[in-house]
Amino acid sequence: MSEDVKKGLLGIVVDETTISQVMPDINSLTYRGYAVQDLCEKCSFEEVAYLILNKELPNKSQLKKFKKELDVNRSITINLREIVKHMPKRAHPMDVARTVVSVMGLEDKDTSNNSPQANMRKAIRIFAKTPTAMAAFFRTRKGKKVIPPKKGLGFSENFFYMCFGKLPNKEIIKAFDISLILYAEHSFNVSTFTARTITSSLSDIHSAITGAIGSLKGPLHGGANEEVMNMMNKIKKPENAFTWINNALDKKEVVMGFGHRVYKKGDSRVPTMEKYFKKISKIKNDKKFNKIYDIVKKVMMDKKDIHPNVDYPTGPMYHLMGFDTDFFTPIFVLSRITGWSAHIMEQHAANKLIRPLSKYSGEKHRKVMLLNQR
Ligand SMILES: CC(C)(COP(=O)(O)OP(=O)(O)OC[C@H]1O[C@@H](n2cnc3c(N)ncnc32)[C@H](O)[C@@H]1OP(=O)(O)O)[C@@H](O)C(=O)NCCC(=O)NCCS
Repeated sequence: MSEDVKKGLLGIVVDETTISQVMPDINSLTYRGYAVQDLCEKCSFEEVAYLILNKELPNKSQLKKFKKELDVNRSITINLREIVKHMPKRAHPMDVARTVVSVMGLEDKDTSNNSPQANMRKAIRIFAKTPTAMAAFFRTRKGKKVIPPKKGLGFSENFFYMCFGKLPNKEIIKAFDISLILYAEHSFNVSTFTARTITSSLSDIHSAITGAIGSLKGPLHGGANEEVMNMMNKIKKPENAFTWINNALDKKEVVMGFGHRVYKKGDSRVPTMEKYFKKISKIKNDKKFNKIYDIVKKVMMDKKDIHPNVDYPTGPMYHLMGFDTDFFTPIFVLSRITGWSAHIMEQHAANKLIRPLSKYSGEKHRKVMLLNQR
């Protein structure tokens, strides 16, 4: 490969952003200038969502208004509910997520309006409705009745309520909320760049988020949290973990939930997420996943010096909370809608069509032979 080809856009700075900053050397991630760890300690997910979308943390009355807007917009149309009900039960929930956002684009009265005000209205609607649609699929594929959202419940509470019909204890809600804060935004990752690329042709927010969901699905991006759980299920018990992971490394397998394009000395989100995974493990009296987690992590660090990324603790944590494995990446979607929306609005505000070049390495110029001469 010639040196002027920057495969994977490695190390290329393609634009400016004011939304988040990843500083791998000092293990730091900030949203709008606030350290995520600080946000996790002092804010709810709704406050952080507001910050990402509106550039500033809300005061009490702004938060009240924002929560009310979410409450008002949570319901989905009968049409969308019916579509979800008729989706194949074996469909991957990420494909369902991609489709429901696309359907919302068909239904939204502002779809073709790309003004900042319309984009904010649409962002809030997508953010509020996607959990409702996904919870409907969570239940209908198990043959259960859809539970509509309940006014007054927070974002995380509502999602649990719509999936399980009841609320878990506050510590579980808190840990889930923390995971949403940590998943909300991460600069120019694959799905965000996809959303910005789609936006750069002056397309609409539903199209950009639909594309971003397709991009997040891949196991090298958001899909890793599901793969972590699949790996832990293959390992089965802590006694197998050491041999299993050593064999995987000997066979040069990629171990999901480890490594990162930007963080080479550790993912800044992991210490916080790991703390909450351990709390949930304790609450759920889990003896298995917690131990497998520690053993695999130690071998990866000792043998390869490859650190876990945020998908490593969220995988087993969502499992212990009762979510199906294929719902882990859709949960990531529910949160990342905030980051994508902010990037889409930022792209619209200072747009330049994204159109890189490629180095041609195919056949030299050829003459077309007529069909009967080939
Ligand atoms: C995220 C990821 C794609 C980053 O890739 P990247 O920046 O292109 O880095 P590379 O794939 O070139 O990795 C560099 C080296 O570390 C190794 N490596 C990186 N992540 C690894 C992993 N998870 N398991 C085993 N080896 C890994 C690579 O094999 C490579 O080794 P080599 O130099 O001997 O060929 C990669 O780490 C990965 O596939 N991780 C697993 C998927 C995952 O958890 N994704 C979620 C990210 S938040």
